[in-house]
Amino acid sequence: MKILGIETSCDETGVAIYDDNKGLIANQLYSQIKLHADYGGVVPELASRDHIRKTIPLIQSALIEANLTSADIDGVAYTAGPGLIGALMVGASIGRSLAYAWNVPAIAVNHMEGHLLAPMLEENPPEFPFIALLVSGGHTQLIRVTNIGQYQLIGESIDDAAGEAFDKTAKLLGLDYPGGAKLSKLAEQGDTSRFHFPRPMTDRPGLDFSFSGLKTATANTIYQNINANNTIDTQTKADIARAFEDALVDTLVIKSRRALDQSGFKHLVVAGGVSANKTLRQKLTALMQQRKGQVYYPRLDFCTDNGAMIAYAGMIHLKKANVSTDLTINVKPRWPLNELVYF
Ligand code: KG4
Ligand code: ZN
Repeated sequence: MKILGIETSCDETGVAIYDDNKGLIANQLYSQIKLHADYGGVVPELASRDHIRKTIPLIQSALIEANLTSADIDGVAYTAGPGLIGALMVGASIGRSLAYAWNVPAIAVNHMEGHLLAPMLEENPPEFPFIALLVSGGHTQLIRVTNIGQYQLIGESIDDAAGEAFDKTAKLLGLDYPGGAKLSKLAEQGDTSRFHFPRPMTDRPGLDFSFSGLKTATANTIYQNINANNTIDTQTKADIARAFEDALVDTLVIKSRRALDQSGFKHLVVAGGVSANKTLRQKLTALMQQRKGQVYYPRLDFCTDNGAMIAYAGMIHLKKANVSTDLTINVKPRWPLNELVYF
């Protein structure tokens, strides 16, 4: 069974083909980062227009990469949410239309389920049950996962997502969008002892997160350290980046440990753009070694948005779900993981 996966929920056009015998046989990605850089964030209308330009050529490239023709494709999976409505509509319209033309089933995939299942594409995939920490530009969630499709949301951010906090703080430090990875690089030069920020909401029970206060504490420290030339010296910037990253990462680690304690589960899956963060990986790896459990991540390329995770999730569901052949093109810009329906 060969499934074409299409991802267009935000600022990456991703197309991949997953074969249930051979694994991933094509993976194409076009990032719109340059297109949005001048605006300091994603411009939804520009994103949709660019997905229109890139999706079909990427599908053609994926077929060439896998040495297949459209007649070899057994199903089409596309991201139907959560995400930007116009961007989602592009992938959904192309996905449903191609499936109709090729006379194969189409399936709407939840983007966050795609992230959650991305570590399944690796050689040593996680076993159920596990706690998933999903950390992306739009979401910070802890999920109790007992099987495919069985996702219980046990904690989430009540304001900014982890990636969003990284990006906004990076912007304050003068780094280009999306600044998460750049801030992390800058933090490598920082002194861990110069500044200290609070680990929000760790002093009370519960698994929810809040990062807007941390962002404000960081912003205040930046303003307090502006010198007579109206700038901040590079070392101070690095020290602030270090303190911010340590506070955010420690918070994620403390809440993940709490979720593991509460569930009794031995495995942790970390996915989404922020799972590429080196400090987070080091601290979670140390935590899981201490607990004699295991932590699983996607490869770095599959932490951020991609078509492979959508093709994979689509294949799993096309195999077991009773998918409708309805031609209605529907997307769900807000689509919580615990309200999954397959359409
Ligand atoms: O999963 P993703 O590609 O898109 C969403 O679904 O939101 O995540 C993108 C987010 C951005 O906020 C980006 O700055 C962040 O992931 N990110 C990182 C790193 N790499 C990407 N944040 C911290 N450290 C990184 N190395
Ligand atoms: Zn994503």
